[in-house]
Amino acid sequence: MAQPATQPDVSPRRRLEMPVLDRRDAGSDYVRLVLGAPDDWISRPGQFLNVRCESAPRSAAASERRPLDYEDGGEWPQATGLELGRRRWPVVRRPLSISRLDRRGRVRVEILVRPVGSGTQWLASRPVGATLDVVGPLGNCFTPPADDRLAVLVGGGCGMAPIFGLADYLADLGREAVFVVGAPAVAQVPMRFKRPPEATGDVARPCPTILEPHVPVPTVLATEDGAGGFRGTAVAAAERWLDQAVADRPVAFYGCGPEPMLRALAALAERRRAPCQVSLEQFMGCGIGVCLSCVRKMRDPGSEVGWTYRLTCRDGPVADAADIVWE
Ligand SMILES: Cc1cc2nc3c(=O)[nH]c(=O)nc-3n(C[C@H](O)[C@H](O)[C@H](O)COP(=O)(O)OP(=O)(O)OC[C@H]3O[C@@H](n4cnc5c(N)ncnc54)[C@H](O)[C@@H]3O)c2cc1C
Ligand code: FES
Repeated sequence: MAQPATQPDVSPRRRLEMPVLDRRDAGSDYVRLVLGAPDDWISRPGQFLNVRCESAPRSAAASERRPLDYEDGGEWPQATGLELGRRRWPVVRRPLSISRLDRRGRVRVEILVRPVGSGTQWLASRPVGATLDVVGPLGNCFTPPADDRLAVLVGGGCGMAPIFGLADYLADLGREAVFVVGAPAVAQVPMRFKRPPEATGDVARPCPTILEPHVPVPTVLATEDGAGGFRGTAVAAAERWLDQAVADRPVAFYGCGPEPMLRALAALAERRRAPCQVSLEQFMGCGIGVCLSCVRKMRDPGSEVGWTYRLTCRDGPVADAADIVWE
């Protein structure tokens, strides 16, 4: 994995409170939160925030609550399972990609939350005006292609989040890119369309009807049910689109999403002898290289066994796909 030290200028990591400036539902599965950031905030696509979350709220009468915090010199608090379940407990911080950064005027950082469990459900329910306790920016970032090759950006699930920012970044640099988005169905894509995207079967082509959010590069939609866009996975759509539209032009692949998607993308890149960077969604705890909960096997020709463990939070989350030991 590329070390953060080799990355371009980004703000040093710090803990801070970020206000929620805007909150919108995005498709049926996501909530987009826009957070206010300090004026000197600079992050790059691929970096993430570690956000302090609470467990999702459950109702409990105030009279049933009693202090459960440990007080110095006091007894260790006793709590029943029911009591614990009813309270809103802080959970370990949750890693969320920085989806977009807007430095025009007030600096804004956007995150795209898919509420899958207690922490992300709590996060997705934060209203405008709430503040979030975050640590960031963390991790390394995607590196633009070394030459003028076409960047093929592939995002699936909540892995779409950093790909929006990467599309912005490459467009700002004047680099050519295409964004391939994969989801089970159109309703699960965090985009609003002018009219329902037409089903194109095994033809992959850019979708002309995105109303929101603005995506500065052509966007190909792939759905598993095939009711809108290409029928199949995002990686299959990327391959088909390259075969149809790009022929032999050199490309560089970038991906973020579920592990099987990244693995398929790595295999496609290998077939096309193209570079491929992927952002890994590993379980994390501290996010800063202390707890060792995010280790990942990476190739290491220098070691006796040919691989070594790297920390996804500190040495990643972006890695060269060819360095990953896929298991
Ligand atoms: C670098 C990085 C960037 C991420 N970016 C985003 C993002 O932009 N938007 C977003 O919605 N999510 C993102 N995730 C995933 C997000 O961190 C997890 O969904 C979250 O930690 C789950 O916490 P929870 O309390 O809601 O769920 P839990 O109750 O802890 O778990 C609910 C379910 O989610 C799964 N899960 C938990 N942690 C992870 C994880 N780290 N990766 C994959 N699955 C997990 C569990 O297996 C379980 O099935 C990212 C993860 C990483 C490592
Ligand atoms: S999350 Fe703690 S070391 Fe990576």
